[in-house]
Amino acid sequence: MPALLGKLVLVTGAGSGIGRAACQLFSKEGAKVIAADIDLNRAQNTVALLNDIDEHLPLQVDVTNLQNVGLSLKKIMKRFSNPPTVVVNSAGITRDNFLLKMSEEDFNAVINTNLNGTFNIMQTFGNALANMDPSPGGSFINIASIAGKIANIGQSNYNASKVGVEALTKTAAKEWGKFNIRCNVLLPGFIRTPMVETVPDKVIEGILRQVPLRRMGKPSEIAEVIVFLASDKSSYVNGATIEITGGFF
Ligand SMILES: NC(=O)c1ccc[n+]([C@@H]2O[C@H](COP(=O)([O-])OP(=O)(O)OC[C@H]3O[C@@H](n4cnc5c(N)ncnc54)[C@H](O)[C@@H]3O)[C@@H](O)[C@H]2O)c1
Repeated sequence: MPALLGKLVLVTGAGSGIGRAACQLFSKEGAKVIAADIDLNRAQNTVALLNDIDEHLPLQVDVTNLQNVGLSLKKIMKRFSNPPTVVVNSAGITRDNFLLKMSEEDFNAVINTNLNGTFNIMQTFGNALANMDPSPGGSFINIASIAGKIANIGQSNYNASKVGVEALTKTAAKEWGKFNIRCNVLLPGFIRTPMVETVPDKVIEGILRQVPLRRMGKPSEIAEVIVFLASDKSSYVNGATIEITGGFF
């Protein structure tokens, strides 16, 4: 039997890269997928790739806007009558520059999307589950980055946002254990998605020399871990940080 048969799953950043790969694997494992992205077109393109298209919902959501996130919960309740018990925060952006040259706007944009966006989704959908009696339990999976741990040059905004996401996740794991809601965080290394298309070839070559597996990861290799954390196979994994980097750290 598929591992996630009938489970309702929300994925942000579902229109591309890791979020899209997660949606694809979730649907293979029998889940109903809410593919949320700031770009509705991309979310729709993701749903078009899934099995049983009518089971799933593409949704336009700007994770930086708490009101907009609240509205998305209302739309989900209208369509499915229940909140998702699996929530994946994959929406994220980069705006790289050296610290001395970084604009306030770029710093704030990255913190707003990656950290505040994760907070907005966690609080809205965490409340929806915690307020149910009895709570159905759940699994929140947040995508941070190994960049936070190693402090990539030129990414002070991104690194800070991702360390924040890790701390946010671990706090939620402690606070929400009583509702049987597990929260875990992934630190991917270098994964081949549109996000890394702006990285110069020279920089990529330099990084790959430091990756013991000598290659970039595939979005599907992150999706496998996401699906594991969403399933009951990981029922005692809570508050964990999982590095998926090919050995790079
Ligand atoms: N690709 C990598 O090497 C890598 C490494 C470590 C961590 N990550 C993290 O993984 C996550 C996914 O990255 P990816 O590589 O798939 O990126 P991507 O750029 O391919 O996809 C990100 C998606 O997020 C969406 N998005 C951006 N802002 C949004 C907002 N305000 N509201 C809703 N959606 C929004 C974009 O439209 C896009 O579809 C990100 O959090 C990223 O920081 C990526």
